[in-house]
Amino acid sequence: MSMLGLLATTKLGEATSGGGFWMPESASSTAHAVDDVFYFINNINYFFFALVIVILIWFAIRYRTKPSEHTVFAGDAPTHNTPLELTWTAIPLLLVGVLFWLGMDGYLHLADPPDNSYPVSVTAQKWSWTFEHPEYGVTESAELTVPLGRPVRLLMTSPDVLHSLYVPAFRVKQDVVPGRYTSLWFEATKPGQYRLYCTEYCGKDHSLMLAVVNVLPEAEFQAHLGKLAREYEDIADKDLPAYALTRLYNRCASCHSLDGKSGTGPSFKGLWERTKNGSTVFTDGSTLKDHMGPGGEYEVPENYLRDSILNPQHYIVQNYAGAMPTFKGQLKQRQIDALVLMLKNHDKLVDAEGNPIEAPNLDDADISTGGGK
Ligand code: CUA
Repeated sequence: MSMLGLLATTKLGEATSGGGFWMPESASSTAHAVDDVFYFINNINYFFFALVIVILIWFAIRYRTKPSEHTVFAGDAPTHNTPLELTWTAIPLLLVGVLFWLGMDGYLHLADPPDNSYPVSVTAQKWSWTFEHPEYGVTESAELTVPLGRPVRLLMTSPDVLHSLYVPAFRVKQDVVPGRYTSLWFEATKPGQYRLYCTEYCGKDHSLMLAVVNVLPEAEFQAHLGKLAREYEDIADKDLPAYALTRLYNRCASCHSLDGKSGTGPSFKGLWERTKNGSTVFTDGSTLKDHMGPGGEYEVPENYLRDSILNPQHYIVQNYAGAMPTFKGQLKQRQIDALVLMLKNHDKLVDAEGNPIEAPNLDDADISTGGGK
């Protein structure tokens, strides 16, 4: 234990791992860097509070003017005392020097992720989190699954406004800034579930921008991520549209609304109708109908949807900027099918306001994907 750890736990404070009055439970390898400094400062506060109060009471009694005495200011009282002044300058200077050193040391440690960190890409947007595991091709939203005892590095960005990611049990917090990447890292030391908050006011539903960090032992972690990576393979065809809405749509959500509102890209509402009848107009002046049908570029309308996901710059819909990145290599064939089916069955999955229907009835859903490549 470091000198600081000793100071921090030579009590008045709380144990640094189980949590207590001042601090929540701690579950990361770096939590002590935060807790030790907090308890160190707190203990200094207790000490000086007690010292000041004791001296105050003592002086009030010792130097109290008795009723029989007259107060006389003779002008020969001491005006300064060099040893005393040096003492009350040197001790605080030393204390703040130590605090700066401890704070800086912890800060630098937290700012520098270990080289072998497990990478997760985080997108914060009004009002949800998206966690992508590039090593598994898996995307999570309400939950972030991480391995126990392995450093995890989050690379974070936001497409809209300022958010901030905060996991109290890990003592880590970092702003998520539109137009740039920020990062933070932690190493979970206890399996379990920990709350993850947005801690920067970001609009109406800021307080609902919550997620859970699920810490799993290494073997369980790999099994869980492997299962998530393959889950779409085990899903019945008729459940694919609902799968796409709950598991894949969050990656489209920041640009494509479900309720008809235009965003960075066209809304998904009515998209299938516009596609089917070929009424979509492109920036080059052509209409989807011109490219569709037997012998055309898109034999069936489903192929246009597929092409728009894999090759989004091919045709840009009029009045839009063509800001979409390709999802080639990020989505498996069956996931692309699922998205196409989600678009085709939009009305069955989503109500008029664009909210997902609780238990959608997909018994008579159109689950033909056009058979295209
Ligand atoms: Cu995002 Cu508050």
